[in-house]
Amino acid sequence: MAANYPALIDRLRQRLGPTGILSDPADTEPYCEDWRRLYRGRTAAVLRPAATAEVAEVVRLCAKAGAPLVPMGGNTSMVGGAAVSEDGAQFVLSLQRMNRVREIDPLDMTMAIEAGVTLKAAQFAAEDADCLLPLSISSEGSAQIGGVLATNAGGNNTVRYGNARDLVLGLEVVLPDGQVWNGLRRLHKDNTGYCLRQLFVGSEGTLGIITAAVLKLFPRPREVEVALCAVASPEAALALFQACREHDPAAIQAFEYMSGAGMALVERFIPDAKPPVAAPATDYVLLELATPRRGAGLRPALEQLLATAMERGIVNDAVIAESGAQRAAIWKLREEHSEAQKRAGASVKNDISVPVSKVPELIRRATDVCERLVPGIRCVPFGHLGDGNIHFNLVQPEGADPAAFMARDHELMDAVNEVVRDLDGSFSAEHGIGRLKPYMMPDWRGGAELDLMRRIKAALDPGGLLNPGKLLP
Ligand code: MLT
Ligand code: ZN
Repeated sequence: MAANYPALIDRLRQRLGPTGILSDPADTEPYCEDWRRLYRGRTAAVLRPAATAEVAEVVRLCAKAGAPLVPMGGNTSMVGGAAVSEDGAQFVLSLQRMNRVREIDPLDMTMAIEAGVTLKAAQFAAEDADCLLPLSISSEGSAQIGGVLATNAGGNNTVRYGNARDLVLGLEVVLPDGQVWNGLRRLHKDNTGYCLRQLFVGSEGTLGIITAAVLKLFPRPREVEVALCAVASPEAALALFQACREHDPAAIQAFEYMSGAGMALVERFIPDAKPPVAAPATDYVLLELATPRRGAGLRPALEQLLATAMERGIVNDAVIAESGAQRAAIWKLREEHSEAQKRAGASVKNDISVPVSKVPELIRRATDVCERLVPGIRCVPFGHLGDGNIHFNLVQPEGADPAAFMARDHELMDAVNEVVRDLDGSFSAEHGIGRLKPYMMPDWRGGAELDLMRRIKAALDPGGLLNPGKLLP
């Protein structure tokens, strides 16, 4: 701990009050490990401001003392985006007490919301106002709006509504010097110079602390249909996507791919999770169609679509949910993929995107490369086929040593990324760079692009105090 920290902690305690700061190691410990358990750090204190003015004060005091801050939402990052360092020199800045929905306007279709509201709570709040907040990710019960925006989360509905970035109309941000930028506008058109809010979305807490946002809402679906389809191959999954697009592109709410290997892990490790199809398949698609139009006849249209796909040999078996509970049970099979993999042992995660048309080739080539590198490795590709983002996750061979497997994470990620590069894809689709992937940046985003990013960082945060060690190498 730096020499001036005890005095700083006293001042912070005075300013934030006893519930606004945690310094007992028993209380700070849960904030020092990430969801994947890749990093375990230490911190002298977790700062928990409850209002924007308090965040600004914390940032000002820490900037003056030269104390680095690691902003944290639900701590669900897949890349150690909110991991504190091992030397105990960084404070955690938790936004969890900033958890108010400030305003929802169903006519403007906007929601002003604070950073610490969980995504799930935000979805419910929108629903109460008869609107839809379309962002949906597996960790939405814990992930918070601030983190979701700071990482530009994508998720299941990107195919229809875009990423988090596309849903942001306004932002409130505390800058590295403690100034508050109030950009909480709710305009759909506003061409007034640089689009500053988009600088902070996806900046992973390295340029400022997002304290609140104005999000775009959408009409709530009046008809929703969810189907689980057993298909014969990734190529067949893509053919089904094409068939959906030809049928009614506007109705596709989610189009998720799962491999038989991933589904088998879900069945094995998650209680009450079983695909409702006649026999286990090598590949699956979860298809969700939705429309805000009443009486649109989505159900017969989906039945027709699937019947035709079966006749054409694209789909082997399919089950359409008959109730909300069945819809949730089908979604659970998809959303528990990460948890099931965690229980199966150590995993290396590749969060990659390629043009949608290249997804089958990606899956085949990357599987081949990894199986050659590590015999017995369990390749578990799954994810957002409709937007080209596949989680090409690699679970350790059964019974192997987890540490020895994880020691090869760079080798495995780099091998997969060579295929990704060849297919004109990206090594980071929706999880961000965090602490795990800055080493990849010079290779993928080097030259003028990385130089520009470094200049932006230096201009906004010359002391390098916000989320050090993340995003930039
Ligand atoms: C998901 O879509 O469930 C997560 O982004 C996946 C992961 O574990 O890589
Ligand atoms: Zn995902």
